[in-house]
Amino acid sequence: MEIKNLMWVEKYRPLKFNEVTNQKSIVDGIRNLIESPGEMPNLLFSGPAGVGKTTVALCITREILGDYWKDYTLELNASDERGINMVRERVKMFARYTTIVSKIPFKIIILDEADEMTNDAQTALRRIIEDSARSTRFILICNYLSQIIEPIQSRCVIFRFTNLKEEDVVKHLEGICKKEEVEYDAKSLSLLYESTGGDLRHAINSLQAVASMGTVNTVNVSVVMGISEKETVGEIVKLALSGKFQEARIKLIELTKVYGMSERNFLRYANEEIHKLKTLSPEVVSALAECDYRLVSGAHPDIQLASLLAELSKIGKDMDLKKK
Ligand SMILES: Nc1ncnc2c1ncn2[C@@H]1O[C@H](COP(=O)(O)OP(=O)(O)OP(=O)(O)O)[C@@H](O)[C@H]1O
Ligand SMILES: [Mg+2]
Repeated sequence: MEIKNLMWVEKYRPLKFNEVTNQKSIVDGIRNLIESPGEMPNLLFSGPAGVGKTTVALCITREILGDYWKDYTLELNASDERGINMVRERVKMFARYTTIVSKIPFKIIILDEADEMTNDAQTALRRIIEDSARSTRFILICNYLSQIIEPIQSRCVIFRFTNLKEEDVVKHLEGICKKEEVEYDAKSLSLLYESTGGDLRHAINSLQAVASMGTVNTVNVSVVMGISEKETVGEIVKLALSGKFQEARIKLIELTKVYGMSERNFLRYANEEIHKLKTLSPEVVSALAECDYRLVSGAHPDIQLASLLAELSKIGKDMDLKKK
């Protein structure tokens, strides 16, 4: 077995458009654009991690270049540690090198993490895009569109990818479970979605980790995703907000001293839990930010976390008073 097939994210990476989950409007839009392949413009994909940007780019190269796709596609990472000059040189070389078999309309360069390029490098890239327009098309990929200079944006057709929805992620994971013949239940798949927030790569990797434990059930998912710890943080936050400061503090000590949760993780989880609350007050957010700041500046963690809980219980009591 090929090594890459050991990783489910690669084993189940879609090869054709119709295997891509969701992103329907994007896929339809692209299909229209490449109906006459020779007219494909340069493309710019933006969006969060693990939602299919690279996958769709590779589908396009297969669709347009057919059997030749491997030889006539250059996949580069702009944030490559060997430096932007190296990237620039390789793009230039590949774009210039002109012998193209007559069966393909152009070569394709996929430039991942384009938003990591400095403005100067992007300006140089813009020149390269223009100079090589006859022989080469670019598919630029980024997380943040705002980091791409305007002259590049205006030379590309832009597609904005979004996080996948729960039903899509669950359905996709279900399909993999069936093919891998692992036992699973629907609740566990929803849990996997919840703790990976629409990032399908993260969800598939986590699914594989859980499946290696035997079955995909909620207990194993909780272990792999550290969900039980997160739930405890949620409980502590709620206890504090309902004015039960002492109880909250005892649980906090248990969590940090016995289970060894770091204060940074406590704050991170507290932040996530706080944003799930139905009534989110600005004071709560400020209290968290204040604590975060003090910890970064080197204040004593035990004292700061206890003080955060005290602050939360005060805020909770004030909110109760206002209601009455
Ligand atoms: N829309 C999708 N349909 C099917 N599989 C997907 C989809 N999105 C992601 N995947 C799965 O997740 C893996 C990672 O996807 P991909 O490399 O396309 O993410 P990306 O959007 O380029 O993320 P990043 O910004 O981190 O590079 C793929 O190998 C595939 O298994
Ligand atoms: Mg990618």
